[in-house]
Amino acid sequence: MAALDPETEAALMAAALAARENAYAPYSNFAVGAAVLDTEGRIHAGCNVENAAYPQGQCAEATAIGAMVLAGGREIAAVCVAGPDEVPCTPCGGCRQRINEFAEAGTPVIVCGPSGVIARYVIEALLPGAFGPKNLA
Ligand code: THU
Repeated sequence: MAALDPETEAALMAAALAARENAYAPYSNFAVGAAVLDTEGRIHAGCNVENAAYPQGQCAEATAIGAMVLAGGREIAAVCVAGPDEVPCTPCGGCRQRINEFAEAGTPVIVCGPSGVIARYVIEALLPGAFGPKNLA
């Protein structure tokens, strides 16, 4: 997957920032939004959903990927994660694995803050040597 065109990247970032507004993060006060672009060009958004039983909380990326799967999407073309400030909110280890499940080498993972893009990665840089679907094929 090649780099995103600026218009698509802006739309993906806007969806992640909007999703962040609906985050349920009363325990960490760390609101996160995520948006996933599928290979059909559709954008699926999600936010983190925390829980009083802390380990039951769900990351924004997991929510967005769940929305993609529900809509029938099976291939991620790009991901954008929106954190609260200018410190890059890079996906946690579990979410790198979740993204990898539906991504391929070169799939962009963009991290943004309130004022725009902070960092751009590709999935294999975030999860080198990944165990993935190919291992079970
Ligand atoms: N969180 C995400 O939703 N995505 C990330 O990439 C990093 C962390 C959430 C989990 C928890 O609700 C809060 O941020 C603080 O860790």
